[in-house]
Amino acid sequence: MKKYTLVVAITCILLLLISCDDTKKQSYTHQTEIENERTVYTNNNHPGKKLMETLCYACHNPSASHDARIAPPMVAIKSHYLNDDMTKKEFGEAIWNFIKKPSKEKTKMRGAVRRFGVMPYQQFSQKDIELIADYMYEFKIEEPEWFKEHIQEKGHENMKYRNDGKKAHSESNQDEKKQTPAERGMDYALTTKKELAKNLLGTIQKKGTLEAVSFCNKKAYPLTDSIATAQNATIKRVSDKPRNPGNQATEKELKIIAHFKEAVAENTTYTPVTEIENGNVHFYAPITTNTMCLQCHGSPEKDINPNVLSKLLQLYPNDKATGYGVNEVRGIWSITFEE
Ligand code: HEC
Ligand code: HEC
Repeated sequence: MKKYTLVVAITCILLLLISCDDTKKQSYTHQTEIENERTVYTNNNHPGKKLMETLCYACHNPSASHDARIAPPMVAIKSHYLNDDMTKKEFGEAIWNFIKKPSKEKTKMRGAVRRFGVMPYQQFSQKDIELIADYMYEFKIEEPEWFKEHIQEKGHENMKYRNDGKKAHSESNQDEKKQTPAERGMDYALTTKKELAKNLLGTIQKKGTLEAVSFCNKKAYPLTDSIATAQNATIKRVSDKPRNPGNQATEKELKIIAHFKEAVAENTTYTPVTEIENGNVHFYAPITTNTMCLQCHGSPEKDINPNVLSKLLQLYPNDKATGYGVNEVRGIWSITFEE
């Protein structure tokens, strides 16, 4: 039961991460542009910061309390991985070496593995990880209040607190670049994904798998909604085969889903769709499946645990959102905001 719970937890998280991965592909041109300006990175505009927050904070969140953690904070990783005379390149390689195939054998954090289990394998691009490592190496990263004290108290064997950041003091806000509508849309999608993941995982760890279904049932919508209100935007997850009939895609959205499906099936690259109409931006980006989603969206006979299935049927008698395989378009983000 516990193992299954964990799998589902990871699934729900991957819900976010997988789509994040797509995002990376899509915003690639943007990213390379930033890279050409390497020397002007500050703690605020470094692309690795954003990537870390988007790809890693779902689990390595620095604001989780000591007891509510589901993984060590990034500063703990930095402290374990960084040595005094390490070059940035070596640091990046050490992190990548673990992430490309996490295992017990490779860990430098045995305590964390004991407590949380080995980090689940996720497909990250080496390029993104390099940018994250670059950021971690150069700057003082966000750390939980309890961290420094915790280390000093416990006197960790092989680890020294390290988070000074070479460029911690060179911060400047002057170059907060104005985002394009497409970038803002992607930001909304990613913020929402991250929030969903965080809350979902908390539920699963504390209350178990069936409760996770209830979470998706009761909380997913209010949560996206509250983020939308905060951002002054409308944020929806819609599908051509919805589980919740309220998430049925409109004619317009169905066309866009068809467009993304084609691109995914043919394995061609796609960019999110951004349209501006009467001062309103409409933004659409695909949400794709991976193995983990199949626990709740796969074949009812093969992939979905009978308990989960009966709960789903009870909550969604007209559920159309099963029978998915891996890397299929499960739906899209449909986001509207003022230009
Ligand atoms: C723990 C079970 C569970 C897992 C795991 C899960 N989902 Fe869902 N999903 C649900 C439930 C329940 C709903 C309906 C939520 C509602 O009522 O708004 C849903 C709804 C959705 C929707 C909104 C459209 C619709 O069908 O109502 C999308 C999109 C979606 N899921 C994508 C994914 C993806 C992608 C993954 C994997 C990365 C995933 N889900 C994993 C249970 C799950
Ligand atoms: C799905 C949850 C999850 C996500 C997302 C995640 N991690 Fe982890 N990670 C863990 C857990 C749990 C551990 C602790 C167990 C371990 O060390 O393997 C961990 C440990 C690590 C370690 C230490 C490995 C060791 O044991 O020596 C590194 C390095 C790491 N993560 C990097 C990252 C980076 C970088 C990202 C973002 C690109 C990321 N993680 C995203 C769950 C996650």
